[in-house]
Amino acid sequence: MVVHAHAKVNWSLAVTGIREDGYHLLDMLMQTVDLSDTLLVTPASGLSFTMEGDAAGAISEGDNLVLQAARLLRAASNTQQGAAIHLVKRIPAGAGLGGGSADAAATLRALNTLWELNMPPQALADLALFLGADVPFCLAGGLARVRGIGEEITQLPSAPEIPLVILQPEGGLSTPAVFRAYDAQPAPAAPSIDAVEAALLCWDIPALTDSMSNMLQPTAVGLCPEISVCLDALTAQGALHAQMTGSGSAVIGIFPTEDHAARAAAACQAVWKKCWATKSIASL
Ligand code: C5P
Repeated sequence: MVVHAHAKVNWSLAVTGIREDGYHLLDMLMQTVDLSDTLLVTPASGLSFTMEGDAAGAISEGDNLVLQAARLLRAASNTQQGAAIHLVKRIPAGAGLGGGSADAAATLRALNTLWELNMPPQALADLALFLGADVPFCLAGGLARVRGIGEEITQLPSAPEIPLVILQPEGGLSTPAVFRAYDAQPAPAAPSIDAVEAALLCWDIPALTDSMSNMLQPTAVGLCPEISVCLDALTAQGALHAQMTGSGSAVIGIFPTEDHAARAAAACQAVWKKCWATKSIASL
């Protein structure tokens, strides 16, 4: 079985509060994009995992969300079945693109099918949240308004593909480190992202680019100033808007056409290794 694990980007991210356990309450507009990892899943007696790709070295055994997802699903469904999982890694780590979360969600979907568990969507979503705050969205895919720490998902109709360039500076960022730094200097108030949702619902690109924001961006720029250089590079290539995704360090640029995005990505690839032309997609 071949499964694609798609990256996500944030059109907007607002921090609206903090829970007693330290997790942050968020209000986000999240979007599946074309850039993906690939999982090859075959029946086996035990659980095994192999990996290839540029980003492969970035994942340690303890952080391996694919194996964690497989073990969790096996325990929750009381099955003894196994699988050999091979991951072709393309989505960079420490980018805010939900790469590890996408792999975990794809593993849950693939093994639910392979092992014929018929686990209902809500039960899978509960397991997903246990694996990480972004995993429930990665399980759902498409376009969604996401609140809570990532578990309150309102699916929105996702229409035309928007051409994007993703660019990551040399250094990645750790999500906990970004939130810790944000807490040291929190923003006074969260902007409403209703205008962003309204713009997305009618695919009004000028209204979208006018209203998008990411409250973690100033903090992340403080930790990794090269983010600003990447934002400027995308703007110089003609991006309608450039903004950091998630907790960084990758940034996205919105482009008027796929050709323009491809040319911009080619120009940036002369300087940066981690740069892709991609687009938003309506569903997984
Ligand atoms: O859930 P996940 O493992 O992806 O989160 C990694 C870390 O990021 C958490 O331990 C927490 O420090 C931070 N985080 C947060 N609020 C969120 C999501 C993540 O504070 N909504």
